[in-house]
Amino acid sequence: MISKFPKDFLWGASTSAYQFEGAYNVDGKGLSVQDFIGKHYPKDITDFKVTSDHYHRYKEDVEMMAKMGLKAYRFSIAWTRIIPDGNGEINQKGIEFYNNLIDELIKYNIEPIVTMYHFDLPDNLNKIGGWKAKETTEGFLKFAKAIFTSFKDKVKYWITINELNVMILSGHVINMVDDLEEWNRIKFDVLHNLNMAQAKVINLFRDIVPNGKIGPAPNISAVYPASSKPEDQNAKFNFSMLRNWTFLDVICRGSYNPFYLNFLKKQGYNFNPSQEDLAILRSAKPDFISFNYYSSSTVEHMGIDEKNTNLNDQQKGYEIPGYGKTVQNPNLLKTQFGWEIDPIGLKNTLKELYDRYNLPLLISENGIGARDVLTSDFKIHDDYRIEYYNQHISEMAKAIDDGVEMLGYCPWSAVDLVSTHEGISKRYGFIYVNRDEFDLKDLKRYPKDSFFWYKTLIENNGSDF
Ligand code: BG6
Repeated sequence: MISKFPKDFLWGASTSAYQFEGAYNVDGKGLSVQDFIGKHYPKDITDFKVTSDHYHRYKEDVEMMAKMGLKAYRFSIAWTRIIPDGNGEINQKGIEFYNNLIDELIKYNIEPIVTMYHFDLPDNLNKIGGWKAKETTEGFLKFAKAIFTSFKDKVKYWITINELNVMILSGHVINMVDDLEEWNRIKFDVLHNLNMAQAKVINLFRDIVPNGKIGPAPNISAVYPASSKPEDQNAKFNFSMLRNWTFLDVICRGSYNPFYLNFLKKQGYNFNPSQEDLAILRSAKPDFISFNYYSSSTVEHMGIDEKNTNLNDQQKGYEIPGYGKTVQNPNLLKTQFGWEIDPIGLKNTLKELYDRYNLPLLISENGIGARDVLTSDFKIHDDYRIEYYNQHISEMAKAIDDGVEMLGYCPWSAVDLVSTHEGISKRYGFIYVNRDEFDLKDLKRYPKDSFFWYKTLIENNGSDF
């Protein structure tokens, strides 16, 4: 069968530095907010100090990725390895580590895709106000300049900020918010600063890496109305705007979404960016959109007078009086961790995204978290993961067939790593890492059944779909 996927399609996989590298204080690395995870979470899950110890095992990991046949590998660079205090001196040891990793990937013809920032804000910057402080944007630009200059000849694809929308909407769930009340007061300023930092970094990129490609990586999902009631359709419109489009409009269209500006006004928030800022936002455009997709959302009408019972608690869903509230979708099955599984939602998301922005799309995350079991003969029979990927890739092929332009697919995750807030027991990898929540065992790597399945799929460029 002829494959629907382009011949140079980037079949890849993803990780992020703080969830995968470990070595949290090695070779001059500074501390990030993620190194204080104990502050936020119960003591029955691991921290990010060792994780999968990729820092010391990157050669073995890349060799296994090559055996799996990966064409691309998306990883993030830890800001605190490059600039330990966030905004000061460059740490050459940090540059060296990523240089070696990139060389190793190139050795096996694996295209490196670099995420610049994945939730691991330097703690020194967090202490002085995080993204609210101007020093954080300064530091980010300094960090960007250092990595663009060091890797411009080796890395073509760059991703600016991972899930900027999740940071704003659910920063407390991913260990980035100390005080939720304060956060709710400042988060729209933070959002503007992040948008500005992203735009400035793109402009800097054009100067330093003129032949490279750069894009954002929000978490985007199709939003369904809970019923055919017209008021539920209105909630769908509102929620898509608040969850998805407002974040992409800024970067792709160069301006804030008008409904979002109105939303801020109604929330009593005085949002008045300067003309100079708005001109910078207009000047910076991405080459592609990468996005993370795990699940769709379903919403229903919520009256303006209805009481909000769980303000901003992503665990329970979102409720915004006058705009809508999320509800469960009775048509979808769930993962062991309660996430709704919606492969057709991926096709819907791809088509909506492409229709709206007309930019090539890269899926930078998609996957299923599960309590995988290592058998006594060191096998992992993760047929549920194979089924999950089969269904999602099949819908991706249909989206391409319908006219969507795609660059690649980098599911989460290449190798097992520590989840943002549910420990190592929630595994996502094609490659198993032998450790438990607190017992580090031997950290040995074992290919799961999904590893062999993905290898075959890559070999025939997804021609079964
Ligand atoms: C994405 C993040 O939101 O989802 C990853 O970019 C994260 O960092 C992934 O690990 C899966 O979420 P979780 O909470 O199960 O780790």
